[in-house]
Amino acid sequence: MITVTIPDENVLDVSADILVVGAFENEDACVLTSSAVAVDEAMTAGLLSFLHATGFEAKIGKVSLLPTGGAIAVPLVAVVGLGKEDDFTAETLRRVSGIVASATEKHQVVASALAVVLPDDAAAATRAMTEGFLLGSYKYEVYKTDSTGNKTETLRLIGGDAAGLHDGLLRAKGTILARDLANQPAGDLFPAALAERAHAAAESGGLHCEVWDLPKIKSEKLGGIESVGRGSEQPPRLIKMVYVPEDTPSGTLALVGKGITFDSGGLSLKTPDGMITMKTDMSGAAAVIGVMSVVADLAPSCKVTAYVASAENMPSGKAIRPGDVLTARNGKTIEVLNTDAEGRLVLADALSLAAEENPDAIIDLATLTGACMVALGENYAGLFSNNEDLVAALETASEVSGEHLWQLPLVKEYRSQLDSDIADVKNVGKRYGGAITAALFLQEFVGDARWAHIDIAGPARVDGGDGYITKGASGFGVRIVLDLIKNFSLSQV
Ligand code: BES
Ligand code: MN
Ligand code: ZN
Repeated sequence: MITVTIPDENVLDVSADILVVGAFENEDACVLTSSAVAVDEAMTAGLLSFLHATGFEAKIGKVSLLPTGGAIAVPLVAVVGLGKEDDFTAETLRRVSGIVASATEKHQVVASALAVVLPDDAAAATRAMTEGFLLGSYKYEVYKTDSTGNKTETLRLIGGDAAGLHDGLLRAKGTILARDLANQPAGDLFPAALAERAHAAAESGGLHCEVWDLPKIKSEKLGGIESVGRGSEQPPRLIKMVYVPEDTPSGTLALVGKGITFDSGGLSLKTPDGMITMKTDMSGAAAVIGVMSVVADLAPSCKVTAYVASAENMPSGKAIRPGDVLTARNGKTIEVLNTDAEGRLVLADALSLAAEENPDAIIDLATLTGACMVALGENYAGLFSNNEDLVAALETASEVSGEHLWQLPLVKEYRSQLDSDIADVKNVGKRYGGAITAALFLQEFVGDARWAHIDIAGPARVDGGDGYITKGASGFGVRIVLDLIKNFSLSQV
């Protein structure tokens, strides 16, 4: 990861290969921020006249480069457009910062004066700049023989805030781990490999980590995980990670992640096109592991327990068949009518386990339904909950992190769609409202616990890429959950 520091120097004497300053947009094309003014003065107004002459408009993310000719210590200045000052938020800065990361990727040392462009909130600006830059420079190159290369090694945030830097670094670090895990091909990231990665992350963060293998999964009666994993040569795993604060916990939060390392659909086989992205069907698990990898650094006052249910959903002679009945951890029997609705089966066990310990709230993240993507498109995750205070807390966290959530209803009247002729419930409802019936299915396993389900099927991966949201796995959810954890206490829900 790129090293981010707060230098003692100012814009005129900072040493770097390139210096980034900002400009806002107005009718006369652009207004320099104070650090850009300082550079302009050192260049005897050369900066502003260059921008005027080239018609620079300071629209969000537009970048203009010019040499400083020795007027300041840095040889090259990048002026970046910040859009209209009235509309400017931490999220704008995060986006701009991601774009800046790409624009400066050929330079080893980048200095930025953008950490001070939110004058009222230095910590938020530093955090947004750090997150945006680190996430915007992310590339998954593990399987490239030649790096296509981001050469930046150091980012120096002039005037930056130390607490904001710490916040931004740990959020980026957790998100990057989640992206790395979800981008890894399923041939190499099977349940046992995911468990190894979780174990390593727990160890470096000083967390307790427990991994249940197949015999233990059977003896603990995790019938959902066992059944989904049965069709694969790769045995399933249940991963538990625990963070305990130093003082008496202010509350207990349980996190649950769907960790299907590959979803072929099982015997209810997907189409070739439908399978292409299914190595990322463990993005919920990746987000949970990403959160846990940095939770000790965040040092929240609540206890956090994570449960990752991991299996590979494959068709074989051993695979669970449509029509089979399994028994989940909480004793409920499930008639499996579509083996492609497997996420809810593994989550049934993990949610039951979480509920057994009576946490103050349970939050699950899962790439659960295509229906949720139909409902909300690719940029919004669906949020379902039995507790409006938890919804409010998550919405606040999502506004801070810039990861979009939209609440969908747990429609009671649809619950009967899950009635089975021969078991307690069946695993699919009608086609319409599929994200809702999936959430209603999950609700069967949380008992009385306060619970929120986040369906991340849409935002877990990105086709295009924009600013700090790069192509491939997005690491969606890591930052929302970290923000929620940071403020979580019993009084909140
Ligand atoms: N992993 C998929 C959901 C998904 C689809 C995520 C596309 C991301 C992109 C899930 O396991 C699944 O297959 N769901 C089915 C449920 C159906 C059989 C009730 C779906 O959405 O089609
Ligand atoms: Mn599926
Ligand atoms: Zn799936």
